[in-house]
Amino acid sequence: MITIKSEREIELMRHAGMLVSKMHQFIKPYIKAGITTKELDKLCEDFIIKNDSVPSCKGYEGYPATLCTSVNDTVVHGIPDNYKLKNGDIITIDVVIGYKGYQGDAAWTYTVGDVDDNKKYLMEHTEKALYEGIKMVKPGNRIGDIGYAVQKYAEEHNLGVVRELCGHGIGRDMHEDPEVPNYGTPNTGPRLKPGMVICIEPMLTFGKRYVYLMEDDWTVKTQDGSDAAHYEHTVLVTEDGYEILTPRLD
Ligand code: MF3
Ligand code: CO
Repeated sequence: MITIKSEREIELMRHAGMLVSKMHQFIKPYIKAGITTKELDKLCEDFIIKNDSVPSCKGYEGYPATLCTSVNDTVVHGIPDNYKLKNGDIITIDVVIGYKGYQGDAAWTYTVGDVDDNKKYLMEHTEKALYEGIKMVKPGNRIGDIGYAVQKYAEEHNLGVVRELCGHGIGRDMHEDPEVPNYGTPNTGPRLKPGMVICIEPMLTFGKRYVYLMEDDWTVKTQDGSDAAHYEHTVLVTEDGYEILTPRLD
């Protein structure tokens, strides 16, 4: 069931979304060679708790941390550990924050020191693919219109579209209906209505699109070892278009 949020619920989701944006802005200066992903996780967890909010991933289906920290060929759900970031890495930080029972969710990929041009290309065009999808958000358009726009942009730029994971509705739960795939056919799927809130989150690869799940049952990596990037926003469908609830503050 796709829920339509009331004005009061939307206000709480704006607050949750803004906390997600602020956490990203808070952690950015710490993303440097030498820091471990576990240290990043601890800093973010403390930030979230100080802001009267909840790290919603922690404990979700047994997930052990606040953040997903996905380095280089890890696509999503990398578990923070003692890995020390190195110059030239890229890392996606993905977080879900709960505020008074409502969730905000956003991911973006960061550079560590100097990264090569291929990684920069991958990051730039993954973020642009996200905005191509967001541009399709308005009442009357359909979920397939979003997936089609993301896929078309990604494939025109020779990037692989990971299909095993999708965006999603969001509200009281971090994962609500509908599923929001990053591929699709125009004019198919559920129709968007004002008050729906969805997460759009292209996961694109520099090589082939195929992925595998590691033995920890969380970490998803590219089969060919190519780099992956992931950008995600929480987006409200408004009367005449969209509002990004997790705006970038940088
Ligand atoms: N932002 C991620 C998602 O949309 C968070 C999931 S990690 C989990 O799926 F551990 F919470 F599942
Ligand atoms: Co998400």
